[in-house]
Amino acid sequence: MLRTRFTEAFGVDVPIVQGGMQGVGRAELASAVSNAGGLGILTALTQPTPDALLREIIRCRSMTDKPFGVNLTVLMSIKPPPYAEYRQAIIEGGVKIVETAGYKPAEHVTHLKAHGVKVIHKCTSVRHALSAERMGVDAISIDGFECAGHPGEDDVGGLILIPAAADQLRVPMLASGGFGDGRGLVAALALGADGINMGTRFCATVEAPIHDNVKRAILGNDERGTNLIFRQLKNTARVGKNAVSDEVVRRLQEPGATFDAVRDLVAGTQGRRVLETGDMDGGLFWAGQVQGLIHDIPTVAALIDRIVVEAEAIIGRRLSTLLQPHTYSQQEAI
Ligand SMILES: Cc1cc2nc3c(=O)[nH]c(=O)nc-3n(C[C@H](O)[C@H](O)[C@H](O)COP(=O)(O)O)c2cc1C
Repeated sequence: MLRTRFTEAFGVDVPIVQGGMQGVGRAELASAVSNAGGLGILTALTQPTPDALLREIIRCRSMTDKPFGVNLTVLMSIKPPPYAEYRQAIIEGGVKIVETAGYKPAEHVTHLKAHGVKVIHKCTSVRHALSAERMGVDAISIDGFECAGHPGEDDVGGLILIPAAADQLRVPMLASGGFGDGRGLVAALALGADGINMGTRFCATVEAPIHDNVKRAILGNDERGTNLIFRQLKNTARVGKNAVSDEVVRRLQEPGATFDAVRDLVAGTQGRRVLETGDMDGGLFWAGQVQGLIHDIPTVAALIDRIVVEAEAIIGRRLSTLLQPHTYSQQEAI
């Protein structure tokens, strides 16, 4: 049994969280993760309306009696989604854990906390983590440069980012970005995290409600199978490598290129089509460098079980055998 500050505070059996994923974080996946002892998370904005989110929460609750959460991704947008209404749906639905991500979550954190909801804020830098801690969040999820989605603009990998954050944070912390197996979980714990958050790895599971072609593309890709897009726009995103993301990179490298140069390639509707129809060159799909460690499509329960068993074996057997009894003390050597 792996107990950490995170499992204790959030009432889950294993320190493994499924991060919010647009188009993927539906009841099938979130309930499977929670049933397997982790923390499954629905993605609010995958639902077209706050009412639809409430119905999805009810559907998820019919599929698990374990705790699950909802991700609320705050996008900077000219026409933002009705965030206050989505928040209300979460509260009305009786969900007790929210993962916030994106732009300045203060208003959401205050409102959710006032209704007894625990907040995990996902961010990509130590300074943003500390700022969220000051807002009163209950945990931080910190995404290293390896991650799928938005790694930020600092380009700091998990090997540095996780201990740098652990040195300064007081609340429990999840390491995110690049995790997919028991070795990663042990490494995260060794670096000072209290658990891991995974996205891409959960996409390649039986229960992920996406087309098989996407799962097979993840298996087919190695650790180089991603593109960083929107670098020039200071809104870097790591997506799976395909003809569309190659073309986005190419067009944005043209001098003076703006978002208009790629608008026709990056619409959310096209990304949704990839996930639904499996037309892998029909749009963008999110995926991280951890693709290089993904070689099968197990059930969520088999995956979580395997990660925990592997982590326990590494801690209890491989690492403990490295600890040899001292034959002489330093004092004696002097
Ligand atoms: C398909 C997909 C969609 C994602 N959508 C979101 C999202 O809507 N909001 C969000 O906060 N993070 C999103 N993420 C990021 C994940 O929650 C998580 O932080 C990230 O995948 C961790 O890196 P990993 O893929 O290496 O495990 C998405 C990731 C993937 C793979």
